[in-house]
Amino acid sequence: MADATGPDGLPIVVSGTDVVAGDTRVLAAIDLRIVAHRRTFILGPNGAGKSTLLRLLHGLVAPTRGSVTWGGRAMRPVRQAMVFQRPVLLRRSAAANLRHALALAGVRGKEATRRIAEALSSVGIEAIADRPARVLSGGEQQRLALARAWALAPEVLFLDEPTASLDPTAARAVEGIVHDIGARGTTIVMTTHQLAQARRLADDVVVLSAGRVAEHTQAVEFFRHPASEEGRQFLEGERL
Ligand SMILES: Nc1ncnc2c1ncn2[C@@H]1O[C@H](COP(=O)(O)OP(=O)(O)OP(=O)(O)O)[C@@H](O)[C@H]1O
Ligand SMILES: [Mg+2]
Repeated sequence: MADATGPDGLPIVVSGTDVVAGDTRVLAAIDLRIVAHRRTFILGPNGAGKSTLLRLLHGLVAPTRGSVTWGGRAMRPVRQAMVFQRPVLLRRSAAANLRHALALAGVRGKEATRRIAEALSSVGIEAIADRPARVLSGGEQQRLALARAWALAPEVLFLDEPTASLDPTAARAVEGIVHDIGARGTTIVMTTHQLAQARRLADDVVVLSAGRVAEHTQAVEFFRHPASEEGRQFLEGERL
């Protein structure tokens, strides 16, 4: 199955897309192209539609109008992973959570054991491998979710505010992990409310406002001269 193995699920192209949920138009007239090997940050106020856009790109939400394609195909490729703001973990040990995710991806036995050890150590939680995931602290759970994403070696990784509930030290550690995953060749799409984080990590910035893309700009440009009024307001907010 070419979709499962080929490095060809990119670019992700969203064309003229609306997402309507209930009687709310959550996303409106979205045109967006996510290209390979870049870290794209989605910025915008609460309720702008950031999480919904991530879900659309990941294939969890279907367009009401318009289309999403992955490498020119209408089928979402398997080699994508998403880290949700509140990690979804199974009632078993940290290591067993990783083993389960790998088994679903067809990775078993010694190869799974090797990847689990590597992933736990890459996020610095090898000491808690046998602890039940449900008793881990928020920061540990977030790292475990990242370890799971790391172990799956996805082509594209979506991260929805992965540092929202973390202390500054843990947040910086997670940023380092995101950086390392990107350096391995994984394309990253991430939301955050922390502009400093986007400054440190982003190659590209997408500003969402009331369900619309206000701008999609290279990060260096965005922080120098945002192209949109919404982008300017966002940067102003940071200075207050
Ligand atoms: N299934 C749904 N039914 C109705 N409304 C929805 C649904 N999903 C999202 N919405 C609404 O769409 C808007 C955007 O939601 P979304 O979660 O994408 O925003 P967000 O930018 O991620 O916000 P936050 O910064 O608070 O995480 C919100 O007003 C939300 O209430
Ligand atoms: Mg959200």
